[in-house]
Amino acid sequence: MDGKRILLIVGGGIAAYKSLELIRLLAKDGIGARVILTKAGAEFVTPLSLAALSGDKVYQELFSLTDEAEMGHIELSRSADLVVVSPATADLMAKAANGLANDLASTALLATDKPVLMAPAMNVRMWSHAATKRNVAQLRADGVTVMEPDVGPMACGEFGPGRLPEPEAIAKQIRAMLSGPTGIGPLEGFRAVITAGPTREPLDPVRFISNHSSGKQGYAIAEALARLGADVRLVTGPTQLPIPDGVTAIRVETAVEMNDAAKSQLPADIFVGVAAVADWRPATRAQGKLKLKGGTEEKVALQLVENPDILKSIGTRKKDRPRLVIGFAAETNDVEKHAKGKLTRKGADWVIANDVSGDVMGGTDNEVLLVSKAGTERWPRMAKAEVALKLADRIAAHFFDPESSAAE
Ligand code: CTP
Repeated sequence: MDGKRILLIVGGGIAAYKSLELIRLLAKDGIGARVILTKAGAEFVTPLSLAALSGDKVYQELFSLTDEAEMGHIELSRSADLVVVSPATADLMAKAANGLANDLASTALLATDKPVLMAPAMNVRMWSHAATKRNVAQLRADGVTVMEPDVGPMACGEFGPGRLPEPEAIAKQIRAMLSGPTGIGPLEGFRAVITAGPTREPLDPVRFISNHSSGKQGYAIAEALARLGADVRLVTGPTQLPIPDGVTAIRVETAVEMNDAAKSQLPADIFVGVAAVADWRPATRAQGKLKLKGGTEEKVALQLVENPDILKSIGTRKKDRPRLVIGFAAETNDVEKHAKGKLTRKGADWVIANDVSGDVMGGTDNEVLLVSKAGTERWPRMAKAEVALKLADRIAAHFFDPESSAAE
């Protein structure tokens, strides 16, 4: 990791002192830190300690003539490989989610062109407040990686989620984000947007409609493309899987959120729709938990409305259509025929079709067809990770060696 550097924004909170430990841990791995200390942060930790540990000056003012002369705030925001906000306070997250830029920290967050990681720390009520939840969802939709805070006793005497994750956990996340593609893969400079996992369509605060998708195939494709150097944005529904190294995840729940998040990551060169998007959502979402009538066995009607078709709306885009749009087709019969239908209907360049009548959903193996306008290729049964590697290889070949790109 030698030569990598983060821009560390230290917000105001009792956990600000943990940034000293974080800088020390990173230094052990050869990762440098340049620090921005907010006004509130300076109430909890001194610029002197931060400067001593980081071996660099600490930046505090937006309108400082000396700072600007040495390094402008725009340059500062781009001088690192990764921007890390720790502790990320409710206020800093609210500003970043809304694009405010009225001090050095918020300006750097708006001006940066680098990936951003936030490690939140705040009172449990502040963390669970609807406004903070909205801001966190917005930040994630914008491609920011927001860690989950730790659960435990808080400095204010309350108990719950809101504690800053341990410095070792933040350092681990930083290492993973920095160990991504380093500029040697064929897809360096290409952006890929991938949807993966199921979506959840809420009926009321405790119930939802969903499906058995595990996300394994989509995550494997995200990882394979990142290994080839692509800047991968993984828009994912709820899954149990870890985010692969070097991949930026945007977590969503519903199809409508997935649609918005996928579009917010365009323009891109490659789009791969792997998600098992719920085709319908309940027409209304009850505010309170729906109640039983009580043993009447009366039929209850559930009204559904169709969800947006994400693949179709991206495949048929006039402006900013990714150069290669790939869909998946989960079929139980007439696999090739249905896949060809989806290829045309959804404006995709390729459709990867599989037969889900067996144990594919949630299983580790997959047996697929690659269907394009030029023809159909049948791949032997292999692990989902191998399907992903083979597909990533085909994608790279499509851009650089069209001759060898199959089915074209
Ligand atoms: N897809 C999508 N948005 C939807 C539904 C599907 O982006 N609302 C994408 C999937 O990610 C996949 C492809 O479309 O890449 C095909 O999904 P599939 O479920 O097989 O097809 P459907 O359009 O749902 O058609 P049907 O259920 O009739 O087979």
